[in-house]
Amino acid sequence: MPNEGSFDASLKRSNEIRADIKVNPGNYRMLTGDRPTGRLHLGHYFGSIQNRVAMQDAGVNCMILIADYQVITDRDTTEHIQDNVYNMVMDYVAAGIDPARTPIFTHSAVPAENQLMLPFLSLVSEAELQRNPTVKSEMEASGHELTGLLLTYPVHQACDILFCKANIVPVGKDQLPHIEVTRQIARRFNKRYGKVFPEPEGILSDAIEIPGLDGRKMSKSYGNSIMLGATAEETAKLVKKSKTDSERMITFDKEGRPGVSALLTTAALCTGRTEADIAEEIGEGGSGQLKRYVTESVNEFLAPHRERRRAFEGDLDYIKDVIHEGNKAACAIAEQTLAEVREAMGMVY
Ligand code: TRP
Repeated sequence: MPNEGSFDASLKRSNEIRADIKVNPGNYRMLTGDRPTGRLHLGHYFGSIQNRVAMQDAGVNCMILIADYQVITDRDTTEHIQDNVYNMVMDYVAAGIDPARTPIFTHSAVPAENQLMLPFLSLVSEAELQRNPTVKSEMEASGHELTGLLLTYPVHQACDILFCKANIVPVGKDQLPHIEVTRQIARRFNKRYGKVFPEPEGILSDAIEIPGLDGRKMSKSYGNSIMLGATAEETAKLVKKSKTDSERMITFDKEGRPGVSALLTTAALCTGRTEADIAEEIGEGGSGQLKRYVTESVNEFLAPHRERRRAFEGDLDYIKDVIHEGNKAACAIAEQTLAEVREAMGMVY
């Protein structure tokens, strides 16, 4: 983790920019993305997708990346990748991302972006790469050996961000070291060859960590996630088997009652009510009543999303078009930036 001082500084800058976006949205280009390792869930929705849609609708110039090469940083297979990518696009578009304004692209389809990797790698030292705390913890969590791609993926992420000259990057706290790498690369490139790149800022969302059904962070690998694309019945089943406790009286107590509290937070997010308010209403109704209320709230909240999603499931050609158009738009921007890079480096023949 970055030390607290630099975290506070990042948070302060991030808040200033968030205020300025409301006044001058046109000054910003936002890029962010996800690894296509599975389906998107409610944690993604409340943690990032909602915010992307809001930026898009506020008039920020947005691009969304599906980071397919990043899948193989710590795993040895690309199984299901096409299916994961298509399903991700369905959820983005169903959630309100408008592909006409916000290109959605996969970085494997943008050669000029990937080519930036070569000059960028020359701007970082091996020692700097080895020190990256996120790379270290991801390697440990995956149990995979440190591949060359895992070691250098923060540099690749700099290519993702800088090819389109994004100046804001919404990320979780854990990704801040990567933003720092990106800023350093931009600074060093500009100093060595002349100014081509902005120094992007990480935008931190309000620090809500979305709990999964067991009270831990919502994550596919914990099996505690409500998928955006699940059916109402699947959702009901998942909520029903979530672990609560035998106390009848429902109260909000994150430490003492993680299961009950996670259910309350889930319902609160979906209804816009507070946890305390919901707890009070259920009172002595117990876990059974709480679970029924959560199921209803989630299913009602997601119904329009799921309906739009079902339409896309039946129209895969449209989804493929969205990616093709997004890739085309990203390629045009990347070609332009690469031309500027060649020019700055004197590699024009
Ligand atoms: N590493 C990010 C994640 O795991 C995904 C990502 C790839 C990304 N490239 C990016 C995020 C560029 C922001 C900017 O969530």
